[in-house]
Amino acid sequence: MTRAVVLDGAAVEAAVSPQRAVEAVREAFVAHARGEWSMPPKVYVTNYPAGDFRAMPALGGGYALLKWITSFPGNPAQGLPTVTGLVLVSDASNGRLRAVLNAASVTALRTGAAAVLAAEVLGRADASSASVIGVGVNGRAAARTFLARGRAVSLWDADPGRAARVAAELGATAAASLDDALAADLVVTVTPGHDVLFTAGTLRPGQHVSLMGADGPGKAEATDGELVRARLFCDDWEQASHGGELAHAVESGVVGPEDVTAIGDVLAGTAQGRTSADEITLFDSTGLAIQDLAIALAALDAVADVELPLLEL
Ligand SMILES: NC(=O)c1ccc[n+]([C@@H]2O[C@H](COP(=O)([O-])OP(=O)(O)OC[C@H]3O[C@@H](n4cnc5c(N)ncnc54)[C@H](O)[C@@H]3O)[C@@H](O)[C@H]2O)c1
Repeated sequence: MTRAVVLDGAAVEAAVSPQRAVEAVREAFVAHARGEWSMPPKVYVTNYPAGDFRAMPALGGGYALLKWITSFPGNPAQGLPTVTGLVLVSDASNGRLRAVLNAASVTALRTGAAAVLAAEVLGRADASSASVIGVGVNGRAAARTFLARGRAVSLWDADPGRAARVAAELGATAAASLDDALAADLVVTVTPGHDVLFTAGTLRPGQHVSLMGADGPGKAEATDGELVRARLFCDDWEQASHGGELAHAVESGVVGPEDVTAIGDVLAGTAQGRTSADEITLFDSTGLAIQDLAIALAALDAVADVELPLLEL
């Protein structure tokens, strides 16, 4: 019989703090860069314009993972979350299913962690202001991670009431305007990617931006013209060049693989990050299964002695 522990959203959040998530995601990026953790390409099963399903496998640390997760941007209007799904974790030595986790919680933790980690690694050492634009499920996680890392953050959302609510709940501030939020030293964008935020000339010298929202075809948070003003970083070239913020610029030939550095290589010390205080750095995140594996393993480690519901099949 298959017997697996079940971690719902609250159990995942209780098990893994944003601080722990940053360390786990850092280790995963490095293990992937060194070839120790592997990740076949994510598969999109599309049902546009309603949304899409993604199957995301990974192997590392003695475990195999599959995340089956959705992105349905119109869901909030019907009172439903944009992102839902499951994470399955199996023992890589014998294939037995060990755990089932709430994928939205794992995703939020690892997305917030990647956004803030990139800002810390690529941002200027003297960066003094941070903002998050788009504070739904995953933007809220990024804001929570900034705060857990001891950094004040201001929030902007197309829905001002939401920005104010999330700010009050987390102990952040609501930005006075979109322009103020766009001008921070460290900016994290987590919008659905329908509206370009960084239009011509808006990126400022020395700024770092983690572009998290455009993680699928046809989405963008910055124009191609702004992308080429910056040093470009991504989580994974394969994913970023096909379905990320960079995809359009890659398709039209203005950005090639030689222009983009994987953040794992920077973290592993084999590639250079920021090279000057004036440089603009952009991190294109598409979201990696190895990040999910890192969070899932951190959660399983933390609940080793906790009695959890069991799935018996
Ligand atoms: N890179 C990654 O790893 C990763 C992970 C998870 C989700 N995502 C992507 O991030 C995006 C947001 O996901 P979510 O689950 O947080 O969605 P969500 O619906 O919970 O939140 C989106 C928020 O963005 C706000 N918004 C919409 N347009 C805006 C605009 N022009 N300016 C400012 N705010 C705006 C909405 O009001 C909402 O609060 C989606 O595109 C999703 O696919 C990326």
